[in-house]
Amino acid sequence: MKKDIIDFTSRVGQIFYGGDYNPDQWDEATWQEDMELMKQAGVNLITIGTWNWVRINPREGEYDFSFWDTIIGMLHDNGIYVDLSTPTASPPPWMSKKYPEILPVMSNGQRWAYGSRQTFCPSSPRLLDFTKDVTQRIAERYGKHPALAAWHLNNEYSQFVVQCYCELCEQRFREWLKEKYGSLEAVNQAWGTEFWGNTCGEWDEIISPRDTAHQQNPAKLLDYKRFTSDNYMVNYLEEVKICRELSPGVPITTNFLYEYDNLDYYRWSQIVDFVAVSSFPDPAPGESRGIAPFSHAKMRGHKHGAPFVILEQAANNVNWRETNSNKAPGIMRQWSMQSLGHGADGLCFFQWRASRSGAEKFHSAIVSHCGADTRVFREICALGEELEKLDVIRGSLVKNRVAMVFDYESWWAAEYKPGPTELLEYNEQLKKYYLALWEQNLGCDLVFGTDPEFDLSGYDVLIAPIMYILHPGMAEKIRAFVERGGTFLTTWSSCMVDEDDRVFLGGTPGPLRDVLGMWIEEFETLFPEAENGIKMESSDLAGVRDEGPCKIWADIIRLDNAECLARYTGRYYQGEPAFTLNKFGQGKAYYLGTDLEMDHLKEVLGTLCREAGVKPVLETPAGIEAVIRTNGEKSWLFVLNHNEEEVNVALPDKGYTNISTGEACDKEITMAPFGAVALEIPNN
Ligand code: GAL
Repeated sequence: MKKDIIDFTSRVGQIFYGGDYNPDQWDEATWQEDMELMKQAGVNLITIGTWNWVRINPREGEYDFSFWDTIIGMLHDNGIYVDLSTPTASPPPWMSKKYPEILPVMSNGQRWAYGSRQTFCPSSPRLLDFTKDVTQRIAERYGKHPALAAWHLNNEYSQFVVQCYCELCEQRFREWLKEKYGSLEAVNQAWGTEFWGNTCGEWDEIISPRDTAHQQNPAKLLDYKRFTSDNYMVNYLEEVKICRELSPGVPITTNFLYEYDNLDYYRWSQIVDFVAVSSFPDPAPGESRGIAPFSHAKMRGHKHGAPFVILEQAANNVNWRETNSNKAPGIMRQWSMQSLGHGADGLCFFQWRASRSGAEKFHSAIVSHCGADTRVFREICALGEELEKLDVIRGSLVKNRVAMVFDYESWWAAEYKPGPTELLEYNEQLKKYYLALWEQNLGCDLVFGTDPEFDLSGYDVLIAPIMYILHPGMAEKIRAFVERGGTFLTTWSSCMVDEDDRVFLGGTPGPLRDVLGMWIEEFETLFPEAENGIKMESSDLAGVRDEGPCKIWADIIRLDNAECLARYTGRYYQGEPAFTLNKFGQGKAYYLGTDLEMDHLKEVLGTLCREAGVKPVLETPAGIEAVIRTNGEKSWLFVLNHNEEEVNVALPDKGYTNISTGEACDKEITMAPFGAVALEIPNN
């Protein structure tokens, strides 16, 4: 078993179920009522503390933990565990007023005011002192408390202060550069500062990328992103150190943001004991149900397949979109089942009881303003009860034979604007490829570009869309993967630059030219409404349509050893290769030079997988999702119906058992609209 896979649920002994609790808003009678309702709902884990700094530290040097003592004591008395958050995401007003240097600075040089939350500069030594002090006191007081199940340090780092541009950050950036490059010459060289005459002769000539007249150096911007991701980690690591020392054995996490690019969550995941995420897909009708599985695949992949926790999801609506749809009856359960199917071992909600005041008063909660006699509360209670049965899956894993390369740094660098095209949206493209597989129930894991091990063993198919940066070592790993028989596909805007954002000379795909057997002479990007087309000329990919439109980008490909699978149908490069295949070693390396329509892409990826011997988890009618978790001894098939109608789904075998109900299922199941089931797979 990999070192990442630890049983972080052992203290609770169940799949985590609960939510964020902000009891400072309520009186004691309400707390008592909450305890009863929590038990009724089957809640076993409550997060407290996230926004409470001022409550326990109302003035400089003054601490009062009586409120936390009471709440933690009450939870403990009621058999509910605590996910204890350090409150360091929200420094108290007294601190920001007295020490304004803890407030971050915007790219225009102006300092943010306090008055919201998460408004702090990660480089402030003063803030770090306060952070360490409060964490130390909390860990000393509660680190060995029997109710403590997990540490939740800070909250969603960098969500609102994406980057700080203050002088302290600038100074830290220089230190970070010294550490990384060793000399100023090396920095100048890596960034190519000679272009536009930006060579720095002294370290203090390097400033943060504050607003300036025209485009900034892209390699510097990339380093500033890397620096920011690392810099937020500095304070986090201090908190981790204190908690590990004073609270040995209690697993530590912080919650990541769903669909967020500002931190390299792969690298962050190597610090946390388990990955936790705030997951808020839009329940508006028509939104793709695959958005969450894509995020789940990231969260799972961050820790090499280990189970993760949904630390926040909404019981019903959120309040922060332009318009906020509700989760219709059944959706909360279905999405919770979906999370479990994709590897979650915890389902928690923001928040337990809806706020009466403040910015989130119209965000849903488990207990709403009108109390607990509600559809939402009943659905929560029903799921709580069902989870007792579903607990058998805890600790099991999702195993796939297809992997996709995801790279936070390529996300940052490929979207440099103005780039070749502003239509390149990294995450949207990756999601498109993921969904093209997901819609066919072809399970896919994510592997990460900034993982130095970049382990491809165990996979038969590797998809690498927009693999813009080829990090050191990746080309060798991919070459070996193809040589030993793997199927590899990469696309437009891939293998363009090295880790310093320097373009590979000799043409894209740089170091992978031999593997792909082709190179790119020119590329053009297409206006939003413009289209070209491709036409297949090989029967190699049987099952892929003969012709189809293409958009966004067109690579004009020259062949070395590769064969042409499809050619462009328009523009001056009509007839030039757009899609190629190179047989290399025992394997196959495909290059797709343009953006295809979804259905076309589905055919391409589906055929590639089929030819590589990778089958769907289950052959199903449209809108039915299937995913498997396994613990080596037993496996469970999760089936979800995303259709508004009832659908019958054929099962390949007899002898399945619905683990929620204990019912046997043979050969076919009838899936209710928005239904979800977890079936134990017969052992034969
Ligand atoms: C999360 C945050 C919570 C709450 C929630 C609302 O990002 O951690 O405190 O604001 O969003 O959806």
